Amino acid sequence: MSDKRENWSARSGFIIAAIGSAVGLGNIWRFPYVAYENGGGAFLIPYLVAIFAAGLPLLFLDYAVGHKFRKAPPTAYKKLMNSEALGWWQVMVTLIIGIYYASVLSWAGSYIYYSIGQKWGEDTQGFFFNTYLQNADGIAFGFVPTLFFGLVIVWAITVFILYGGVKKGVELSNKIFIPLLVILFSILVIQALRLPGATDGLNAFFTPNWEAMTNYKVWLAAFGHIFFSLSVGFGIMLTYASYLKAKTNLTGSGMVVALANSSFEILAGIGIFAALGFMAHSAGVPVNEVVSGGIGLAFIAFPKIISSLGAGGDLFGFLFFSSLAVAGITSMVSILEVPIASFQDKLGWSRKKAVTIVGGGSAIVSTLIFSTHSAITFVDIIDYFANNIGIVAGGLFSIILVSWFRRPLLTQLKDHVNQYSSIKLGFGWNFLITVITPLSLLVALGLTIKAIATEGYGGYPVEVLLPVAGAVMAVFVIGAIVFSCMKDKETEEK
Ligand code: ALA
Repeated sequence: MSDKRENWSARSGFIIAAIGSAVGLGNIWRFPYVAYENGGGAFLIPYLVAIFAAGLPLLFLDYAVGHKFRKAPPTAYKKLMNSEALGWWQVMVTLIIGIYYASVLSWAGSYIYYSIGQKWGEDTQGFFFNTYLQNADGIAFGFVPTLFFGLVIVWAITVFILYGGVKKGVELSNKIFIPLLVILFSILVIQALRLPGATDGLNAFFTPNWEAMTNYKVWLAAFGHIFFSLSVGFGIMLTYASYLKAKTNLTGSGMVVALANSSFEILAGIGIFAALGFMAHSAGVPVNEVVSGGIGLAFIAFPKIISSLGAGGDLFGFLFFSSLAVAGITSMVSILEVPIASFQDKLGWSRKKAVTIVGGGSAIVSTLIFSTHSAITFVDIIDYFANNIGIVAGGLFSIILVSWFRRPLLTQLKDHVNQYSSIKLGFGWNFLITVITPLSLLVALGLTIKAIATEGYGGYPVEVLLPVAGAVMAVFVIGAIVFSCMKDKETEEK
């Protein structure tokens, strides 16, 4: 059988694309505010535990399944153990993440423009919520033109890159954007560290608050974050590994990607907390009083810091929001690659057809939902459910099915990975993937469901939370059932 599947040009192409996928809004926008809300420096310990207990073992499992079967999640899981629905669940998660990811990415893009001349004025919080987002309480579908234009631009760039295919689209764009990101971000962090008060911020970031570590929600946040950050458990690394050549060092590549991702994340934390330290220093208050955390941290606190830097702040703002946008676009592309490749595998669609239908369809839904007065409410709720339930459940099921119910498959996958890998998976990986990872995810998922059932989420009223979260869950479940019941079609000509 001839295999028309595209390949990366070399392993380095895969590594750079995988780093591009991992390093994204999760590192620069999400990590600092999640860390800030979960005990600052105390968060680093659960975060590291989550990487070793769950992130890395699952990363290797994703690589093994994608690389062995050279297919996106639905077909790969079907071939592995007749669990196509699990693959479609993961595809649904990427579709849901893709639609809100574009929204936050478009805010970052808009803020590149606003940072020139510091157009947000004195009241950065008022500017973000009232002037820019035109935020309204509850669910309000009124149209916000500025948000619409930002979204159209983000989707146009994403779809343009995806049309180029694996080598000339995804790989090439990463080869341009990742070095650019490293340059922009390094200048930014160095600038931040030179600000007066930076050390106070770093102390706040690195000093563990042991009390926070006794709060189980801090641990949940760490496990909920690590998969999103590493792009594992929802099909991305699995799909990217499916484009690798047969003889590939998988574990060595994985370690490089994980190390790059965490370095970037910690670096982002350092840069942001140094800047928060400066802000506290200027206001003469402790760091924890300087700003409220939350989803708006990057869009409220950062503009405030930029404003207090005077005219020099323009460059700082430009660097920060450009880094956010550049990091985000390479991840956005990887998120959409999953459904695109899945529909190509299942229905035999050509690349162009899959990009047009999946990219175009997602763009329409995303633009309709997120150019409204409730954009930030939708982002917040969808982000929480997609990460803490969608990704965690998808990852958990893939692990349990393989390691608890089909033990011989686990050995096959391990042998497959070890064939050409520098670091061999052995007893340690077996133990983690069979005991530690599933149990920690099971506990995380159970506690999340309990917390939602008893307290809801984020203080949102039931009439807001229920329809949004309900819609997200319905997409996961119905999508997984409907698509896995569809008949496979033969591959179309390009
Ligand atoms: N891994 C991507 C991020 O961190 C999705 O943004």
